[in-house]
Amino acid sequence: MCGIIAYAGKDNAVPYLVNGIRDLEYRGYDSAGCALDNGDQLVIRKDVGSVNSVIRKYGVEQLNAKRGVFHTRWATHGGISVQNAHPISDCSGDIAVVHNGIIENYDSIKESLNTHKFSTETDTEVIPHMVEEKMRLGKSFREAVKETALKLEGASSFVVLNRNEKDMIAVKKGSPLVIGLGENGTFISSDVQSLLRYTNKVVYLHDNDLVTFNDGGYTVENLVNPNLTHKVDTVDLDYHSAEKGKFEHYMIKEIYEQIDLVNSFLERDKKDIEYASSLIKKANRVYLVGSGTSYHASLYGAQLFRSLGIDALALQGQELKNYGRIIKDNDIFIIISQSGETSDVIANIDYMKDHKKIGIINVEGSYLSRSVDALIPLKAGVEKAVAATKTFTSTLVLLRLLAAYLSDDAEPIINDLKLLKLNIYNLTVPSVLEAIERVSDRLKDDKSIIYTGTEDGFILSLEGALKMKEVSYIHAEAFDSSSIKHGPIALIENGIDVIAVTTKNSKESLAYGLEEMKARGAHIIGISEENNPKLFDEFIKSVPAKSFEFYPLLMVLQMLAYRTAVKRGINPDKPRNLAKSVTVK
Ligand code: F6R
Repeated sequence: MCGIIAYAGKDNAVPYLVNGIRDLEYRGYDSAGCALDNGDQLVIRKDVGSVNSVIRKYGVEQLNAKRGVFHTRWATHGGISVQNAHPISDCSGDIAVVHNGIIENYDSIKESLNTHKFSTETDTEVIPHMVEEKMRLGKSFREAVKETALKLEGASSFVVLNRNEKDMIAVKKGSPLVIGLGENGTFISSDVQSLLRYTNKVVYLHDNDLVTFNDGGYTVENLVNPNLTHKVDTVDLDYHSAEKGKFEHYMIKEIYEQIDLVNSFLERDKKDIEYASSLIKKANRVYLVGSGTSYHASLYGAQLFRSLGIDALALQGQELKNYGRIIKDNDIFIIISQSGETSDVIANIDYMKDHKKIGIINVEGSYLSRSVDALIPLKAGVEKAVAATKTFTSTLVLLRLLAAYLSDDAEPIINDLKLLKLNIYNLTVPSVLEAIERVSDRLKDDKSIIYTGTEDGFILSLEGALKMKEVSYIHAEAFDSSSIKHGPIALIENGIDVIAVTTKNSKESLAYGLEEMKARGAHIIGISEENNPKLFDEFIKSVPAKSFEFYPLLMVLQMLAYRTAVKRGINPDKPRNLAKSVTVK
């Protein structure tokens, strides 16, 4: 979703802002813009389309600025247009604001500012006008921003640059913001990854923090709780590990990185998993909560835990409210999230407030990672492609390990992990890659693709279909093959492509559904360890991997979506309308 990078310091701000905003592009956006203060004037440049087109169109790289801010917008209020792109100004044009989030009471605020001339359709525009109004009434810049911030309802993090004031001000409410401590200046960003080129010293902000920063440093104050402390953290991530390197896209780089990640599971200290399992053992029911791909991981975890006799249920964040009256004192929550910033989960965190919470999260320092009692960090490295790949497989592995600790016998599972390490060569075997090429050649012209499986194979089908629709824009739907006859079979017509995700567990039961579909003309593409020539019209071999069988299967499904997208001329790293971290409701 929207991205913010701001800088005030002794160096020219422009290169920092340009590089920083490029590092934020992966989050997804539809327009971009910057406000640069060169000492004489406040220069605002913005447009719809890519960051690079704004940079090139206005020759931004040739400019100099003492301080400034760059923003990428993912439209919520108001269409995608130049006017609605940020930064957004007050009537005088002296104040520029960039904002992430949604101001829920902007209508009533706007009414109260009826002497001001509004020139956008955004909720954001109330911020510069309210600051302007309060300053007209004699408040200092800081007081005006503070009072404005306290008035806003909803998730609303923003940065204000006032050309007449030495300080820039940032406020965090809901949407993420972090301070970066550069050698010669202070950064504010919505995502730590845009700071890593320059610093790994950061201060994670709390809600209602107000940061004042200029070329001499920064101060932070919490507007609601003055006792909150703000320590400097060191981020344990290397900027270069997040570069594309020899790969054409981040998505393919991240798919291949999964092969090496197996080492990190073997080598990691498992104390966090052990501790989390001790909490689960004392609990009544386990709720696994996540959205999108992370919800699929929750489904997988819940099924695994139930197989151990543990009462477990997977939920999407927004479903929690329906369970409010059922949740018991001794229930426990496992929050699954790559970004740790997903608003559907955060907005419902109150339902979990009196309960122990375990987090399986990739971005350390993110809001959710700081809200849990026990964190199992994925340590999958930066994931830049919008579609989650390596973070999903990593989550499933950690859930598997957690299940092993819950059953008090982790050793066989760790031995299986060692076998997996020896055995995942799927995507390095020419015949597998050739099969993926052949199948993606066929899929690329499809209007609709059906994914099917049963048991764990059904959960993998859900994920395979989600990956396909996200990056290739082909309608893809997953059905449990036993439920096909209860309705979806009406979709089966001659030649329709059906991807059958076959796990060892589900081989037998899947066959019935497949026979019924084949009898009605479906073209069955089997992904499994063994070919079944009677049923499969095409076959992609997925190398066996005992308890971690999902790993090679998923790599094939991800690769199939990736190759189909590329063949359709789509950049799979930045699918339309999607964002890497969904921070608005
Ligand atoms: C799919 C995808 C999304 C996310 C979802 C939750 O490839 O990336 O469906 O899984 O938006 O995001 P996190 O895991 O960051 O909470």
